[in-house]
Amino acid sequence: MTKVLMINGSPHQKGCTYTALQECAKVLNSHGIETEILWIGNQEVRGCIACGRCREIGRCIFDDQVNQVASRTDEFDGLIVGSPVFYAGPSGQITSFLDRLFYIAGSRLQKKPAASIVSCRRGGASAAYDRLNKYFEIANMPVVTSQYWNQIHGNTAEEALQDAEGLQTMRTLGENMAWLLACIEAGRKAGVPEPAYEKKTYTNFIR
Ligand SMILES: Cc1cc2nc3c(=O)[nH]c(=O)nc-3n(C[C@H](O)[C@H](O)[C@H](O)COP(=O)(O)O)c2cc1C
Repeated sequence: MTKVLMINGSPHQKGCTYTALQECAKVLNSHGIETEILWIGNQEVRGCIACGRCREIGRCIFDDQVNQVASRTDEFDGLIVGSPVFYAGPSGQITSFLDRLFYIAGSRLQKKPAASIVSCRRGGASAAYDRLNKYFEIANMPVVTSQYWNQIHGNTAEEALQDAEGLQTMRTLGENMAWLLACIEAGRKAGVPEPAYEKKTYTNFIR
């Protein structure tokens, strides 16, 4: 069964971010797509310390949910990351989480359609949204969009439920994600070859 993993990067388990993810999940489920909302919790999430050990051992030295998601990439076909807006950016917890996840498992996430959603009281949503999309754009992940930037407004889940346009944006995102996943599956069945990538070239400086 096709599955979309949704990561709730808020310290609130059932707040606005969750409410937005749920609205999107309902649409995906209506298309027969399984969803799982994984909450990163409200405890500290270690940031990347750039030790490079993941390149040797294939996992992060901080053995938490990041390693668990990295070991489960075969289980899901699409990814949606949600975050509250903190000072016009995503939460520190979710960027710590994603820095480490993409450093370990970026190559295993490639070709999976991905989207981000953000939740804010008032402003800074599009800057946070851009920041989250950066992970996908550097990992060969097709970025799924909606009728508006994927944002919802509110300070509580109850307020988010009053943002009719935000909720609609989430439902449209679900429709677009379901459609793209179905197209990819149809292409696979029809024998459309996946993109073949060159060995990566890293140019750290230009002479
Ligand atoms: C540290 C912090 C910074 C925040 N910064 C912003 C901000 O820049 N813009 C904004 O509109 N709301 C800001 N908020 C409010 C949250 O983004 C908003 O309440 C969000 O919808 C909460 O989502 P959640 O219920 O999923 O945690 C901030 C909240 C906190 C705790």
